[in-house]
Amino acid sequence: MTQRVLTGITTTGTLHLGNYVGAVRPAIAASREPGTESFFFMADYHALIKCDEPDRIERSRLQIAATWLAAGLDTQRVVFYRQSDIPEIPELTWLLTCVTSKGQMNRAHAYKASVDANVAAGEDPDAGVTMGLYSYPILMAADILMFNAHRVPVGKDQVQHIEMARDVAQRFNHLFGKGEDFFVLPEAQVDAEMELLPGLDGRKMSKSYDNVVPLFEGGAKGLKDAIARIVTDSRLPGEPKEPEGTALVQLFDAFSTPEQRAAFRAELRAGLGWGEAKQRLFAQIDAEIGPMRERYEQLMANPERIEQILQEGAARARAIAAPLLARLREAVGLRRFQPLQAVAAPMAKAKSALPVFKQYREPDGQFYFKLNAADGQLLLQSQGFAQGKEAGQWVARLKREGAAALAEAPVQRGEVDEALLLEALAALQAAENA
Ligand code: TRP
Repeated sequence: MTQRVLTGITTTGTLHLGNYVGAVRPAIAASREPGTESFFFMADYHALIKCDEPDRIERSRLQIAATWLAAGLDTQRVVFYRQSDIPEIPELTWLLTCVTSKGQMNRAHAYKASVDANVAAGEDPDAGVTMGLYSYPILMAADILMFNAHRVPVGKDQVQHIEMARDVAQRFNHLFGKGEDFFVLPEAQVDAEMELLPGLDGRKMSKSYDNVVPLFEGGAKGLKDAIARIVTDSRLPGEPKEPEGTALVQLFDAFSTPEQRAAFRAELRAGLGWGEAKQRLFAQIDAEIGPMRERYEQLMANPERIEQILQEGAARARAIAAPLLARLREAVGLRRFQPLQAVAAPMAKAKSALPVFKQYREPDGQFYFKLNAADGQLLLQSQGFAQGKEAGQWVARLKREGAAALAEAPVQRGEVDEALLLEALAALQAAENA
């Protein structure tokens, strides 16, 4: 079965080299594997939780979209879209919000961290906590469940959110599924690679440590300048150096083949200067990133091209989201009111299924009637009457009075259950007196 892989990128700021190595590159590679169907999106509703600067939000989603495209994302293979172009997502968020227990949200890491910080600072526990931050895991669950993703590649800090998405999915399936599962239960996929790349100072590359190597921002010069700031020991050119564990070598490794890695280490051990080593590192990274940077700059100069790609992605995403949401609305009872004829239709059908009286004359010259069930079974057979009018009067009376007239009526019963006969007469009577 095709595995659906889905991941979102919160659009605040720009991507750095660590994001590229840890997330963008492996995700694009994975999207090329046969048997997978990938969904990548800009989590711009999530961005609003952290950022109230509209221009930054706008710029960041453009930059991040351009980054993925420049890095080689194949938009034929991958459904690539902005979260905010899919109105079904916030709608699903609400349906899920209504089955999510508040207690579970109280335990969400991001919220708890804010509360802990407030308490430590002697503030009100909820100071500065918006409902957006508080409900964030439900929005994320909607992102994932909307497309029934099997696998969700994320960093370690996000694993709890995937577990919450599973819980909510399970609860919804249980409450409204009637044995059918609306949602696949997603699995987190934590790649070790995502944590690996060190920043300039050797700690994990992160904006909050101010140790990042930019990916495209600042051009080739920006990359070169950042590399110049990588912390090394003070060994001089000519002195042997220990390559293992240095940030410089780990960055080199992320962009090279095993042979190149071995050769670089050998040179450092033989005394290659750090300055020279940094130039090698720049060349190594730029060989991969340089052509992408050119594509990135072209895309940034033509935002309307990106817009069109994202609109196409949104259309593909909505073609999946809308039918599922329609089923969910139906399941929870948000249904369209039907015109009354549609409701009456089963009654019309019942009418055609009513038993029927037949009046006829036999060769003996007498008039008779019989009552047949809708399926043709004989229910009642009259005696013969000299006058057709007499037969007609009995028919009229039986229709009007139903079983009440039965005792007096000059009829014999067919070989059917009494209950069936009484039901048939009652139906006739109801139709007659309606
Ligand atoms: N919350 C994720 C992060 O900060 C981004 C994200 C939003 C996401 N929705 C998602 C990731 C759905 C995976 C699936 O990294």
